[in-house]
Amino acid sequence: MTDTVHYGHIFHLAGSPAVTEAVDALVSIPDGALVVGDDGTVKFAGEKADVPDEFASAESHDHPGGYLIPGFVDTHIHFPQTYAGDSYGGGQLLEWLNLCIFPSESKFADPEFAQAAAVEFTSRRVAAGTTAMMVFGSAFPHAQDSLFTETQKAGLRIVAGRGIQTVGGDTAKPLLTSEEEAIRLTRAEIDKWHAADTGDYRTALLHVAIVPRFSLSVTTETLKNLGDLYDEYRDRGVYVHSHLNENNRPGTGEVDTTKEVYQVDSYLDTYDGKFLPGSQVGGKSLLGPRTILAHCVHCQDAELARMAETGTSISHCPVSQLFLGSGTMPWKRTVAAGVNISAGTDFGGGDEWLIPRVLGDAFKQHITEPGDAGVSMHPAEMLFIGTVGGARALDMEDRFGNFDQGKEADFLVIEPVDALKSTLDNAVRSDDADLARDQTLFGLLMGLRESSIAEVYVQGRRVTV
Ligand code: GUN
Ligand code: ZN
Repeated sequence: MTDTVHYGHIFHLAGSPAVTEAVDALVSIPDGALVVGDDGTVKFAGEKADVPDEFASAESHDHPGGYLIPGFVDTHIHFPQTYAGDSYGGGQLLEWLNLCIFPSESKFADPEFAQAAAVEFTSRRVAAGTTAMMVFGSAFPHAQDSLFTETQKAGLRIVAGRGIQTVGGDTAKPLLTSEEEAIRLTRAEIDKWHAADTGDYRTALLHVAIVPRFSLSVTTETLKNLGDLYDEYRDRGVYVHSHLNENNRPGTGEVDTTKEVYQVDSYLDTYDGKFLPGSQVGGKSLLGPRTILAHCVHCQDAELARMAETGTSISHCPVSQLFLGSGTMPWKRTVAAGVNISAGTDFGGGDEWLIPRVLGDAFKQHITEPGDAGVSMHPAEMLFIGTVGGARALDMEDRFGNFDQGKEADFLVIEPVDALKSTLDNAVRSDDADLARDQTLFGLLMGLRESSIAEVYVQGRRVTV
């Protein structure tokens, strides 16, 4: 590779802000230049007029009317639901899982089917500009092999792990394993794929997570064994991923059912080693800075505080929460608890592959929260959860998520077409420069569709799946 420079309107969040500091961290440079070194790192992001002389001979790419933004980070998406984004079963989470999702995921038992899905999954995420993701994987090791292989071929980032289920009803049967097999397969996946590309998790694009589907799909024995397994691998940059406090439908809700089955004070306790009746300690905690829990719609204050304390991140999935009638992650209260928040599509719990659609629904959800809880998210906060907050959730903020000098250059070239172009071209903007900037970023995030994502780069390399 040679040094390259891209010219366009830069938006990113500089430094390492908390979500509450996103507005101050917002960088907008209409006549911007992003210089990417031959080593794939960001050498310069600033005014076109200020590009250092040493890059005068860099290969130049002009994107008139275009935007340069960090690649999107999707911290919760289901690979074995690649074809399940339209699932109708007439019910909320637990009915939907039993009626639609478990049968759909069972089709991945066929290696050819799973391979085709891995190809499609990979091309859809590229089209959506998702450069990094935490993937809830298939129960079937051959499907996971396909997923990692296709991801590696494309040059994308991934954290993924096979979905672990040791207990369930009839439709879940094809996805279940014995307790011993669950640990054996999880260990084998880590040994095979964790940092398989470089041999060092600090430089790898491929990472493995330990993924108990949710507490209702496993047992106290599974949780104990996974705690021991994680203890063994924690220092090697292995991740943990699951769902938490998603659906609380009276009578058949996941939250109440979990508390009833485990007899615990809080759902989070089941992932925190306190999965025995009365929330007594039964094993080691699965929480930590490489743990992401999806949804967190119905958390107690103590759960939010514990996630913040342990560095555990939330994957906020508003598209899915609307699709499955799960409710709304309370924005103000969750932010106030100090827990890191990232964005997830939860496809096929959600019906959108695009992180900007998640950000748009987050905006709509939170402005609609009742009373004092209602808030108009700042577009910088939207960008935060879709980029640098996601990199932080993946514990790789030091590597990507914004255009700070030295970071690995994961970025998108947006060349507005269709409705996005005409909307931006004809927009009315405030006389106030900051508000005008915010309006443009909001318009870009709300109106972005696959058709306007012209180029996708990971570590400075163009991804062309
Ligand atoms: N909880 C357990 N499994 C799932 C799943 O596949 N999707 C969602 N949204 N929630 C879950
Ligand atoms: Zn999910």
